[in-house]
Amino acid sequence: MNSPASTMATPSARAALHACAGMAEDTRASTTALPKAVLPTCTPQKWLLGQKALVTGASSGIGRSIALALAEAGADVVVNFVSGEDQARAVAAEIEAFGSRALVQRADVSNEADVERMFAAMYEELGTIDVLVNNAGLQQDAPFEELTLAQWNKVIGVNLTGQFLCARAAVREFKRRGVRAEVSCSAGKIICISSVHEVIPWAGHVNYAASKGGVMLMMKSIAQEVAPYRIRVNSISPGAIRTPINMQAWDTPQAYQELLKLIPYKRIGEPQEVGRAAAWLASDYADYVNGVSLFVDGGMTLYPGFETGG
Ligand code: BGC
Repeated sequence: MNSPASTMATPSARAALHACAGMAEDTRASTTALPKAVLPTCTPQKWLLGQKALVTGASSGIGRSIALALAEAGADVVVNFVSGEDQARAVAAEIEAFGSRALVQRADVSNEADVERMFAAMYEELGTIDVLVNNAGLQQDAPFEELTLAQWNKVIGVNLTGQFLCARAAVREFKRRGVRAEVSCSAGKIICISSVHEVIPWAGHVNYAASKGGVMLMMKSIAQEVAPYRIRVNSISPGAIRTPINMQAWDTPQAYQELLKLIPYKRIGEPQEVGRAAAWLASDYADYVNGVSLFVDGGMTLYPGFETGG
């Protein structure tokens, strides 16, 4: 099916989409009044053959897509989850269908003992780690004056402290082991999944925006410190990606229309597009990329209000 188009897009945007060859249509959307999703058709590259990856929060959403993209690129993958074991096992089965090994590990990334146990289990089963994707994250939204300390601590605990604990464990192994020249010219890669809200303030989501702003400078500071050891640390900062976390922003035509006002590219992103970015960033094709936030956001960070104003 090669005729994707967003029925909500402007006529010129629609024409541009029609003109673009090789886009796969997402049939999930065709049963609803929602615009059809488009996902460019890309040939999988075996960029990560022989590498061992750990993806936190990999049982659903963006984490699941990253785990699958890394496996498709040739990596063996640890599928971390904290709830939803059946979903995590289903992701593991999909990884194995690519011919890669999968290891399902329950761990709360905000808990130091859980994290240490998970990394030990990974080394026991897969030997080492080459790629860490710090993806586990959540939102607990509230008007600021109603935000509870529990909601603040939960979001900072998972989104920021969890990334610290996993990154620290990975760096210890990368430095101990050094470069495995047979699989990569780098001694290890860390990809932090941040958000456009590491730079865009977000009313009603203060805890979430604070956690992502923290991820940005944590990532850059770690990158600066460990670069001499040939360890690369970067972030992917997604905008609106079609996952359960933001369903209210896209699951009715009205909501989707409002969302498009924030996206110059005039479509929501698909989780696979973050997976593809992660596979590239983890590979030696990105060997000179260090300490950056790669925005995968259809231009959400381009001040879309200025399209017609200013
Ligand atoms: C949030 C989503 C939101 C997107 C753009 C993400 O980091 O998790 O809920 O739709 O940013 O605002």
